[in-house]
Amino acid sequence: MTRAVILGTGSCLPERILTNAELEQMVDTSDSWILSRTGISERRIAGPGEHIHKVAAQAARRALAAAQLTPADVDLLVLATVSPHMLMPSTACFVQAELKAFNAFAYDISAACAGFTYGIDLASKYICAQPDMKVLVIGAENLSTRMNWQDRNTCVLFGDGAGAAVLGNAAEGEERGIFGAKLQSDGRLWNLLYTEGPPSMNKDLQLPDWKGPYIQMNGSELFKNAVRLMEGAVKELLAQHHLDIADIDLMIPHQANIRIVNNLKERLGVSADKVFTNLNRYGNTSSASIPIALDEANREGRIRPGDLVLLCTFGAGLTWGALLLRW
Ligand code: ACO
Repeated sequence: MTRAVILGTGSCLPERILTNAELEQMVDTSDSWILSRTGISERRIAGPGEHIHKVAAQAARRALAAAQLTPADVDLLVLATVSPHMLMPSTACFVQAELKAFNAFAYDISAACAGFTYGIDLASKYICAQPDMKVLVIGAENLSTRMNWQDRNTCVLFGDGAGAAVLGNAAEGEERGIFGAKLQSDGRLWNLLYTEGPPSMNKDLQLPDWKGPYIQMNGSELFKNAVRLMEGAVKELLAQHHLDIADIDLMIPHQANIRIVNNLKERLGVSADKVFTNLNRYGNTSSASIPIALDEANREGRIRPGDLVLLCTFGAGLTWGALLLRW
């Protein structure tokens, strides 16, 4: 049976750390407010030369090295982002050029924080159709480029970074790999989280109340939807595979807010030692949050061969879902 498997993971974070104490000097906020409401202490902010495709390419090199593959082995490069280097061409093409992965075709996907999980599902389906393929999936963001640094509602939450995974076909008889995914979206709720981008040059199509190229957010509504929708997706996916939450060895949730994670954990009945978080150090890196966490969990030995790993994700769109894989 053909089943896609993760062959290697990698991540890369910008050097510069922005602490809550530094944010206190920029907007009317406090370390205690940020920590108690979000669980975030610091985040990484890209500095000179750390353009999204450079950081993404470094994460990809690490994933390829872990998989003992070279850029020439990559057949498809999928990059998930909501903070692309340019509107055109895709950031995936910039990364392809950085890596010299010239045997690949490359494109971006836009599913906000859920982008990496959508990308893994996509890769899995390509590999099931063409088992020889090697697919590089990257989640990368420089959200600092889309931030209103005067808006305390948003600027304390987000950070920059990139994570990557290389996928190929599982060897004959191997039990590991991507088992299944439950992915969903609801475009009716787009206005809970959005970025309008540059203004339209066609006056007839200009947005009536253009708010600038910044992230706009309704935090409390997102919070409620995030918990409810991720819980639903996880339960449905487990039921489809006749599994119980107790069968999961490690849950890697989207790293947005520790209170969302704790709420989800309680509703699902997952014990604390089975939930991986690193949002305290990186904040919410949108599509990069799950691959960075997956790579750290892997390198820290939190995932062992044979473990059942559950990814759960939620983001703008709205987009959300859950994905199961055997390590
Ligand atoms: N410092 C101090 N005060 C702040 C700050 C800040 N950085 N940001 C907002 N406030 C104020 C607001 O202005 C508001 O004041 P007001 O009542 O006078 O109007 C008040 O704090 C709101 O307080 P709470 O209702 O207690 O805030 P809440 O507990 O809802 O926490 C938060 C806000 C952290 C945004 C929360 O709603 C949240 O995390 N939502 C999810 C948002 C999220 O994760 N977005 C990321 C994208 S979606 C995703 O990735 C899942």
